[in-house]
Amino acid sequence: MSDKQDIGAVAGLKIDVLTETGWFDDARFRADMAVGGGPDQTQYRVAWDAENAGGYAALLTITLLDGDQHKILLDTGWNTGWMDYVFERHGVDRMLERGEIDCMVLSHWHLDHFWGIESTLKHNPKIRLYAPTSWRPEDWMLLKEKGNIQVQDAGGRMVSICRNDVPHEGELILTEEAGPDGSGLYRLLPGVALHMFDASMLLQVRGENVIYVNVADKGLVTVTGCGHPGIMNLLDFARNRIASPGLYGCYGGLHLSIFDTWKPEFDQIIEDVTRLGMEKMGCNHCTGWMWAEKATTHGVPIIKGTDAYLSYPKHSAQAKGSHAFLGNGDSVTF
Ligand SMILES: [Fe+2]
Ligand SMILES: [Fe+2]
Repeated sequence: MSDKQDIGAVAGLKIDVLTETGWFDDARFRADMAVGGGPDQTQYRVAWDAENAGGYAALLTITLLDGDQHKILLDTGWNTGWMDYVFERHGVDRMLERGEIDCMVLSHWHLDHFWGIESTLKHNPKIRLYAPTSWRPEDWMLLKEKGNIQVQDAGGRMVSICRNDVPHEGELILTEEAGPDGSGLYRLLPGVALHMFDASMLLQVRGENVIYVNVADKGLVTVTGCGHPGIMNLLDFARNRIASPGLYGCYGGLHLSIFDTWKPEFDQIIEDVTRLGMEKMGCNHCTGWMWAEKATTHGVPIIKGTDAYLSYPKHSAQAKGSHAFLGNGDSVTF
């Protein structure tokens, strides 16, 4: 179809799972959210347990057709201490300092993707940043104004729930659904584009950036933070709006059986995804272990993780022996 956009192609894409453990224990997270007013409350009103906070971040290494390599950081996690550890372990701190990371894409403003922003900015406050245009005043304070946001905990004490001492000074591209020119696509590199889905999500957050990479001779890879707009919507966008040899794979959080609760529509999504005929699905974070395990048994090409996550100092209470998630320290090549 002629209304498909040609974004070019890349020679290859490697994704390192820096950390996919937004938090370590679902029950703790849900309890904090319930005490703080439930999922319709803003995330800035909840006295989250800092010990339970981890974060989501991935490093994309893209090889262009001419052999040049470029890196994109997707998200910056939640807990600054955890993210400092993760970035040091993977050398992301030095990459940021040396200017080896082209830009950071913030998928969305949820705490487990954004509140660790200081861990990125302390190494490169001038990094180019893409973020959904639908920010809240607290998001802005944290990003631009040395924000230190406090709430009252259950014992009545004021506690800091997020803080950033290094304001962002670089170019900030606030992404909109129409894109910069009505095409719906922000071009990051030849073969790499971003679309912002204007969706509402829990904790009063709105808008999610999704990255699409067209790998030459293979096809499109969809890269997500949480996938809140719905995995089939993200894949339909790829199919209908971007010219490619087909859908090759996806990576990231797919927001399905999060908190290990099953809905009948998840069976349908397994069928729908199977029908698309992708070759590699790497999933983790808010996908939900139940969905990833069930999809594996139904023939969806789920890329299995390893025990690398066990070498991190903290682990997810939800992790299973099935390795249906790409875990912390794993990587996948498309
Ligand atoms: Fe998340
Ligand atoms: Fe999210």
